[in-house]
Amino acid sequence: MKLGVNIDHIAVLRQARAINDPDPLEAVSVVTRAGANQITIHLREDRRHINEDDVKDIIRHSKIPINLECSIDDDIMDLANELRPHRVTIVPEKREELTTEGGLDLRTHFDKIYYHSRTLRVNNIEVALFLDPNPALISSVKSAEVDIVELHTGEYANAYAMLNSNLAYTRGSIKELELPRHMLKKRIRESLEKINATIESANEFGIKVAAGHGLNYQNVENIAKINDIFELNIGQSIIARSVFVGLDRAVREMINIIK
Ligand code: PXP
Repeated sequence: MKLGVNIDHIAVLRQARAINDPDPLEAVSVVTRAGANQITIHLREDRRHINEDDVKDIIRHSKIPINLECSIDDDIMDLANELRPHRVTIVPEKREELTTEGGLDLRTHFDKIYYHSRTLRVNNIEVALFLDPNPALISSVKSAEVDIVELHTGEYANAYAMLNSNLAYTRGSIKELELPRHMLKKRIRESLEKINATIESANEFGIKVAAGHGLNYQNVENIAKINDIFELNIGQSIIARSVFVGLDRAVREMINIIK
């Protein structure tokens, strides 16, 4: 199982002072030396952290593949085609959200997703769709001629956090803190079942499955045990831990757990 490290938060810290430090490009070298397989960055429409220059520099200098997360917005897609990362992961994006809150609405945006993913592939860019775990969505992924999905693990991660520490990982989940323990355990079980059922359907259609969102040093084990997930993309927990132990150690510790 491969690890993609999402380094957006290095740019978040830089933007806090609107200066040039810390440099996301430096994070790319450290993360690479620590053994990660991929760098993941999200070019948001509002450019709240990573910007075009970061993407250009990172693509130019990185020795490992770049997975560029972005919305289906036409301008962003044009930019992605110009910048040529190894992979584009299409994600839903809302201006007011703190982080990507859910998977793509494939039904509403199917035509646009089909059109843009085709253009990206013509430009030799791998395409992945970020989806909520739901086996019923996989046939639409196949119809869109996309062969990688990344499953949103947020529901699992939230239930896990609530059960184990009463700390949800997004504000949106606070209401659910009121669930009794047996309901949280059930929620964890059901979300893992949904992930597994989606993988089963993806396997039937020959679609590769990655996963990510809200994964951390405590909850990643259950996901890392699932054989047919080829890659995890993890950001918040690794960058948060790096504040205390350094980025190199934070990445190595995560790789050790995943292995
Ligand atoms: N995968 C995707 C598609 C994401 O949008 C994000 C968040 O940017 C991540 C993975 C990483 O999530 P987290 O920061 O919660 O580890």
